[in-house]
Order: sequence, then C-alpha cells, then structure tokens
Amino acid sequence: MTRERGDTALTKKLHLKTYGCQMNVYDSARMADVLAPLGYSVTDIADEADLVILNTCHIREKAGEKVYSELGRLRPLKAQRRAEGGDLLLAVAGCVAQAEGAEVVRRAPHVDIVVGPQSYHQLPELIARATRAAASGVPAPGRGIVATDFPTDPKFDSLPRQVDPQAVSVFLAVQEGCDKFCTFCVVPYTRGAEYSRPAGDILAEAQNLVQLGAREITLLGQNVNAWHGSAPAGGEWGLGRLIRALADGVPGLRRIRYTTSHPRDMDDDLIAAHADVPALMPFLHLPVQSGSDRVLARMNRRHGADEYRRIVDRLRTARPDIALSSDFIVGYPGETDGDFAQTLDLIAEIGFAQAFSFKYSPRPGTPAAAEPGQLDEDVKSVRLAAVQELLRRQQDAFNQATVGRRVPVLFEKRGRHPGQLIGRTPWLQSVHAEGAERLIGQEVEVDIAGSGPNSLAGRIVTIEPAGMGAAA
Ligand code: SAH
Ligand code: SF4
Ligand code: F3S
Repeated sequence: MTRERGDTALTKKLHLKTYGCQMNVYDSARMADVLAPLGYSVTDIADEADLVILNTCHIREKAGEKVYSELGRLRPLKAQRRAEGGDLLLAVAGCVAQAEGAEVVRRAPHVDIVVGPQSYHQLPELIARATRAAASGVPAPGRGIVATDFPTDPKFDSLPRQVDPQAVSVFLAVQEGCDKFCTFCVVPYTRGAEYSRPAGDILAEAQNLVQLGAREITLLGQNVNAWHGSAPAGGEWGLGRLIRALADGVPGLRRIRYTTSHPRDMDDDLIAAHADVPALMPFLHLPVQSGSDRVLARMNRRHGADEYRRIVDRLRTARPDIALSSDFIVGYPGETDGDFAQTLDLIAEIGFAQAFSFKYSPRPGTPAAAEPGQLDEDVKSVRLAAVQELLRRQQDAFNQATVGRRVPVLFEKRGRHPGQLIGRTPWLQSVHAEGAERLIGQEVEVDIAGSGPNSLAGRIVTIEPAGMGAAA
C-alpha cells in the first residue's frame, strides 16, 4: 500500500526485524537511514509495511531457522497484498543472506531480495529492480535478486549521515569482519575479511551522533579490538588511541564502550586506556569460550586459559572496579568431562558480572562441524545447565553487591510505569528509578535500593540548590 503525504511525496512503510548481534542492530538502523530518502518511514507493525527486511543471524542453527519460520508467516500477507493489486516486498539481509544466498529464494520463493551485510547500501537500486520486476510480472517466484558480493568499496563510504534524533545510547561500527577463523564460527565467511574504518570518519560520525542526542557510544566490531585504522594526520592508530581521541574530541560524549573483543588483541595501550580515560566504562565483554587449553587449541582461539587469566589481572590492575562478561561454548567436539570442569574452574576463579553460554552448534562449512567426537545433545544440555547455574549465581552476587551503593546512572528512556525512568550503571546493569523525564540523557547519582533478576531498583539523589547533598 502506498500512502500520499501532501500532494507530491509518496511515503512508504518499512518494517525491520533484527536478529543476532549488536552489529545487526547498527546495520538495521543504517538500512533505515539508506531508505529514508526514498520515502520509507519505519513501522513496528509488519501488517502495514510496504517493505519488510529480516536482518538475520547465522551463528547457531536455531538462529538461522527462525528466519524461515518468519518468512512462512509473511507469505500469506504478501499473497493477500498481491491479490489486492498491491505488493509487499520481502528482503532477507544479514548473515543468513550472505551464507545461503540463492538457497534463501529456493527455500522461500516469495522472497524478493537477498542482500548481504556488505551490500545493503545498494538497497535503493535493489528495491527499484525488484519493483520493476514485480510490475512486469517477472521474476517468477524463486527468482529473487541476490546481492552477496563483497564490494571492493567499503559500504561505509556510501552510507548517509544520520539525521534523525538519536537514542541516548547508540552503536557505532568501527570494524567489521574477522580473520581469526575460530573453527566453530561462521562470521569470517558471512562478514568477510577484517576491515577498519578510518579514525576521521569514526570521529565525525561520533560528533554527529552526539549532536543528535547520543551520550553513550558503543564502538562495534566483530573483533573490535583488532581495529587499526588510519589516523586523521597520517599513520595508524589502535583502539586505545581512538578511544582517547573520542573522549578528548567529542564534547558531550559521556560514556564509551566497545564490543566484541578477542583476548589476543587486548594490547597494552587499550588496557592502559581503562586506567586513564574516565569516559571508558569499567565493563568489558571478553569472550573466552572454554577454560581448557586443549579445547581452546582445537577451537583455534590462539591463546590458553592462563593467558586469559593474565589479561584479566592486567585489566583489574588498570581499573580495579572493571566488571567482566564473556561467551562460553559447551560441548565442543571432543570436549571431555575434564575439559568442561576446567571451564567451570575458570569461571569460578574469574567471577563474571554477566555472560552468555551456548551449546556448540555445528555450522555447515566450518572445520569443527566435520570434526570427530560430536557430542550428544543431552551431554551438551547437562553442561549448559551447570555453566548457566554458576554464571547466574555470579551475576546475582554482582548485582547484590551494588545494593546500598551510590552510583552514577545514565538515564536512557521512560520505563513502563508513569514517572519511571530506565538507565544503566557504568557496569551495564539496568536501573529503574522514579524521576522527571528531563533527566533522560543525563548521568545522575542514584542510591541502589534493590536487585532483581534483570535489573536494579534505585532512588535518584537530589542535590539541594545550596549544593548540600540529600537523598530524595
Ligand atoms: N567475535 C566474537 C563473537 C562472535 S559470535 C568473539 O570473538 O568471540 C558470539 C558468540 O557466539 C561467540 O563468542 C561464541 O560463544 C558463540 N558461537 C559462535 N559460533 C557458535 C557455534 N557454532 N555454536 C555455539 N556457539 C557459537
Ligand atoms: Fe568468530 Fe572467532 Fe572471529 Fe569471534 S574471533 S567472530 S568467534 S571467528
Ligand atoms: Fe549473527 Fe552475523 Fe552477528 S552470524 S552474531 S548477525 S555477525
């Protein structure tokens, strides 16, 4: 359906559904930016959309399969539109698009466009082609357009500047792709080779985001700490140097985070930045996957468990209050009870503020999928339950330890109840508190009064006009 705005401009509705990691969240926002000049405005309701984009994830089997069930649900909607003489364009973007390409249109013949993560700046052209094809009766179902080349010009150069007001906390992609080739992982195949954006472009995007209302920026990359971009005045910077430039050069930027890091790329300067850049938040997601050297070697992680311990020690020396998060895979091919026990030991020793854990999922085309010693689902389930129980206890303990403390909270949005605000502590814990809406976008002292499974409850500290502190 096409609606008319005024006499001239045609407005269309875009529905974006995002799966997977934060990079997909960033990419979805950028796809909306790319399509805004074509008259597309974003809707949360698939039923009223002219274009639906599924921005997909291929990391585990379940993630990939979700897309096909969603495409199944959209099929009758598209058929109905067509019966009414209109259309609903369906696009599959993201990592399933890249990994499966034409297979997507074979399995879901009503898909119009398959577009990989490095090609979505071409969406205007792809949509024009798909629209022309639909109007002329071609393509027949199953002949959707597939755009999954890795173009030689980075897409970042073709993306428009953000113009809409931004959320308080936003993502900024600085690095994409991965050259590490962990044996279990599809990312090097779906996102391509490692690429670092130039520092000047990143600083300009950060300045623009802050002018549009952002106060916290999370720098994103599949391997964000492998970032090594060209410096504004020539030469090359590492991530630590970039973080310092953002902290010094972007007035109004209160908080900086980065994710996801690889232990191998935690260099001295980045660790030092945790000591001397106050805007760099004391929270780090540093995936270790396993506590067993044998498993780590077979995963091609290229570091051992002790090396991880040493990195954590150095981080804690630099920033004693740093909280850590991680990813764990249980049931990697050939993982023994002894290997798994070493993972539990490592977790117990380090103490994580939060973490993600997954059963190993064999992915087509990755070396680990062909390895002998694939474990039974039940073994994986038992190990996952054990690891999650330990991690849950650690997360509870971490949150409990915040109760009774006064901490700075950056408020991001209204809560569900009237008068309620939601924000985050420096350690990424979500906080609910009663407060005025004008506090959104501000960092405010909050007394933490309680801790629930997923968030903390707090009371905003009001400061008397004379400057005398008093709790509200
Ligand atoms: N770049 C990041 C994470 C990429 S994917 C890193 O280097 O760690 C996010 C997480 O998904 C990984 O850390 C890993 O724990 C998990 N993962 C990746 N492939 C997986 C697979 N085949 N099965 C189960 N979990 C997987
Ligand atoms: Fe995947 Fe390993 Fe690259 Fe992370 S470092 S994206 S787990 S291949
Ligand atoms: Fe998934 Fe691709 Fe991100 S596979 S985790 S969406 S990089």
